[in-house]
Amino acid sequence: VFAAVVQAPEDPILGVTVAYNKDPSPVKVNLGVGAYRTEEGKPLVLNVVRRAEQLLVNDPSRVKEYLPITGLADFNKLSAKLIFGSDSPAIRENRVTTAQCLSGTGSLRVGAEFLAKHYHERTIYIPSPTWGNHTKVFALAGLSVKTYRYYDPGTRGLNFQGLLEDLASAPSGAIVLLHACAHNPTGVDPTLSQWEQIRQLMRSKGLLPFFDSAYQGFASGNLDADAQSVRMFVADGGECLAAQSYAKNMGLYGERVGALSIVCRSADVAVKVESQLKLVIRPMYSNPPIHGASIVATILKDSDMYNEWTIELKAMADRIISMRHQLFEALRAKGTPGDWSHIIKQIGMFTFTGLNKEQVAFMTKEYHIYMTSDGRISMAGLSSRTVPHLVDAIHAAVTG
Ligand code: LMR
Repeated sequence: VFAAVVQAPEDPILGVTVAYNKDPSPVKVNLGVGAYRTEEGKPLVLNVVRRAEQLLVNDPSRVKEYLPITGLADFNKLSAKLIFGSDSPAIRENRVTTAQCLSGTGSLRVGAEFLAKHYHERTIYIPSPTWGNHTKVFALAGLSVKTYRYYDPGTRGLNFQGLLEDLASAPSGAIVLLHACAHNPTGVDPTLSQWEQIRQLMRSKGLLPFFDSAYQGFASGNLDADAQSVRMFVADGGECLAAQSYAKNMGLYGERVGALSIVCRSADVAVKVESQLKLVIRPMYSNPPIHGASIVATILKDSDMYNEWTIELKAMADRIISMRHQLFEALRAKGTPGDWSHIIKQIGMFTFTGLNKEQVAFMTKEYHIYMTSDGRISMAGLSSRTVPHLVDAIHAAVTG
């Protein structure tokens, strides 16, 4: 009965890892998926995460009962504080409802399903380009997906004029997906004063902000600074949605731990919104898993562990910045044609190199360098040892 099922293509990001795993070459490098690696090229479990897990394992009161549909209450409160700030009036006034979801993707999907059912305007504007999964998450939830200009390939920076024009001509009430910081894949963020202009424009048109915050702490190394964009929109008293992921900033990729928060105008509305979120979640996966959220809650509620986390997070961010400098310097030293200064200007986990599809395919075939076909490289996958090999590959690709 399934004979007519056609073969689907691999995922554009996760499929890169599939291809990498099949390659027997000893020099292969995976710069595809945004996952942190140490200088030795190994995945990293943070010390603070191991410490939290130890505490959890040794806690005899810990059981494996179902969580509530919206997840661990402590985790939800602490996650809202992390993104909105501990002094956020919206939290104080009980205008925020938070549901623990399956990392960033799950949080986006639950938010999208809620909007498709309960929000009057079904159009969402996403930046061009954006993380490849955004289009599918929103379209499959039943929203109509349009794009707004974001990246300017000429300057390898923000197309701010284009962004403002596109948002200004969006229908009033439309949803707008914003990357809270460290835009994926471009590594290009608006400045604070540009964020303020975006906020004013969006509020004047009644556009609904939906933040994707997958890299809090990875843009500047500071958790509060990386939440400024979101906090600006919450400070004005208006509504917004925020999807948080702990995959990168706590290295909890496979634990699938994240949160969806919806900021409402009143506590009364927030209670009703939460009741509807439960109706979205229950038939999808019933309730979220307990382990990852317990790790996060343990770390966030203990000031000593929280501090340890911020130090480890900063070390990861700093290693990525050092990779940017090493790559930039090595390309300059080799005399590779082109202006590569965007490598050190862009922020977060990724560099949007400007290499085209054919050049990427060449680098994979000839040099066993694995990256997404849009020319994005995960700086977190690079080390001092692999920089020279990457530079050889880029040099051959642009001069070949
Ligand atoms: C990425 O963009 O590489 C990450 O967000 C991982 C993913 O799920 O695609």
